[in-house]
Amino acid sequence: MEVVFAVFVMTLLRGFHAQGLGGLEIGFYSSSCPNAEAIIRATVEAHFNKDPTIAAGLLRLHFHDCFVQGCDGSILITGASAERNALANFGLRGFEVIDDAKTLLEASCPGAVSCADILALAARDAVVLSNGPSWEVPTGRRDGRVSSKSEASSLPSPLDSIAIQRNKFMSKGLNDHDLVTLVGAHTIGQTDCLFFRYRLYNFTTTGNADPTLNQAFLPQLQAICPKNGDGSKRVTLDKDSQFKFDVSFFKNVRDGNGILESDQRLWGEAATSSIVQNYAGNVRGLLGLRFDFEFPKAMIKMSGIEVKTGAQGEIRKICSMFN
Ligand code: HEM
Repeated sequence: MEVVFAVFVMTLLRGFHAQGLGGLEIGFYSSSCPNAEAIIRATVEAHFNKDPTIAAGLLRLHFHDCFVQGCDGSILITGASAERNALANFGLRGFEVIDDAKTLLEASCPGAVSCADILALAARDAVVLSNGPSWEVPTGRRDGRVSSKSEASSLPSPLDSIAIQRNKFMSKGLNDHDLVTLVGAHTIGQTDCLFFRYRLYNFTTTGNADPTLNQAFLPQLQAICPKNGDGSKRVTLDKDSQFKFDVSFFKNVRDGNGILESDQRLWGEAATSSIVQNYAGNVRGLLGLRFDFEFPKAMIKMSGIEVKTGAQGEIRKICSMFN
């Protein structure tokens, strides 16, 4: 009788806990696939050791998954009309890491772990490997059955004004604080010249570069991205430490060294610049410690966007194909 009561209370508590996390729960695979998180971590680490730039690729992959159809692995589906082939998803990387993890998971616990969860866990592991903060990722996402190129317009563009960025994030339940915090992911990774080169030449009606760009930094960017040169040359989004998950991205935005126009615009409006300033720190970076604390909170929120749980969706056998 006591055992039955204890199980009842535990089930109830689990239910409450899961409700607080939008139907997800920490340690969802603890009995169905106890090594799931360790397998994913080891796979991400093996790829990272060969190519540390993959960390940024994985973090961006999860963000792009969540903003279209929710965090449901829809970004992983291949096919001409699939989400992955939309212009907004240009340059996405890390698909092979997710596939490798899935192969190992299927060998260990077939049909148990969703591709959507692999993406969320791999994003966390990527941040940790980049010397960033760690957090427990609520799991239990199911994989979606829809992946459509035409829906990718909900993703933000580097040309978006703050008002448009704000609307796009708000439509996913994320506020200004979440927006600035999550864009802090640009503390690692790179961009192609083609996403910001227009800022370097003839940006103003008088033929000058974007005046919000630090004029001392301008010639360096122009050297990497000549006016009619190769648009696929890569530039680090955080000029000071592209492999380190720290607050120098915010210092760069404060100092006019933001690469993407959308990043630099965060400094142009009081509502967002105060948050940038806060993270950038003004007492020898002491306040910068807060980013370590806020980023995981914002990630847990983003990783919970429109998730499918319970009997919804499916657990894909192969991440790039519906069952
Ligand atoms: C207003 C919002 C955002 C815009 C307009 C934006 C835009 C971009 C663009 C244009 C790139 C360069 C892609 C390339 O050339 O390969 C990029 C890279 C990246 N983005 Fe964002 N992004 C936004 C928010 C976010 C968020 C919320 C995250 C994650 C939480 C994120 C993570 C990354 C990472 C890690 C990279 C580097 C990827 C790599 O090195 O392959 N971004 N972003």
